[in-house]
Amino acid sequence: MERTEKETTYQETRRVQKGDFAAAGQISASYKNMLKRLGVDSKVVRRLAIASYEAEINLAIHTLGGSMTIIVYPDHIFLVVEDTGPGIADIALAMQEGYSTAPEEVRMLGFGAGMGLPNMKRCSDTFEITSELGSGTTIRMGFNLLN
Ligand SMILES: Nc1ncnc2c1ncn2[C@@H]1O[C@H](COP(=O)(O)OP(=O)(O)OP(=O)(O)O)[C@@H](O)[C@H]1O
Ligand SMILES: [Mg+2]
Repeated sequence: MERTEKETTYQETRRVQKGDFAAAGQISASYKNMLKRLGVDSKVVRRLAIASYEAEINLAIHTLGGSMTIIVYPDHIFLVVEDTGPGIADIALAMQEGYSTAPEEVRMLGFGAGMGLPNMKRCSDTFEITSELGSGTTIRMGFNLLN
C-alpha cells in the first residue's frame, strides 16, 4: 500500500482584521473544536489552542491584518501565521518574556504582557519566525501527532 502519512486531512485559511478584538479568539476556539472532533490528543489540542490564540491576538494588535492557515496531516499539524505590517526589527528581543510594545489602550484590554511569542514557541514542537521590516512577519509552527 502507498504511504499515506503526507495526505492532508484538513486545511483552512482564515483572516484576522487589524484591531478586531471582538472576533479575537474565534479562530483558536474553532481549531479546538475541529481538532477534538478529529480525535487529536487533548494535550496537543490544548497546546495548539494556546499558540493559535496568541498568534490571533498578535495579528489584531501588532499588524495591519493577516491570515492563519492550519493544515492537518495524519502525523502532524502545521500552523502558518502571515501578516502585512511593520515587521519585527529585533526578533531575539521580541521573543523575550516580558518584552512588549503594546500601547496603553491594548494593555487596558488585558494584553501586552509580552508572553505571546514565548508561549507560541513553548507550545509548539517546531517554531520558525521570519520578518521583514516595513513588510510583515511569518510564523510557522508544527505540532507532532504521533510519538
Ligand atoms: N506580527 C507582529 N508584527 C509586528 N510586531 C510584532 C508581531 N508579533 C509580535 N510583535 C512584537 O513583539 C512583541 C512581543 O510579542 P508578544 O506576543 O510576545 O507580546 P505582546 O503581544 O506584546 O503581549 P501578550 O502577547 O503577552 O499580550 C510585541 O509587543 C511587538 O512589539
Ligand atoms: Mg502577543
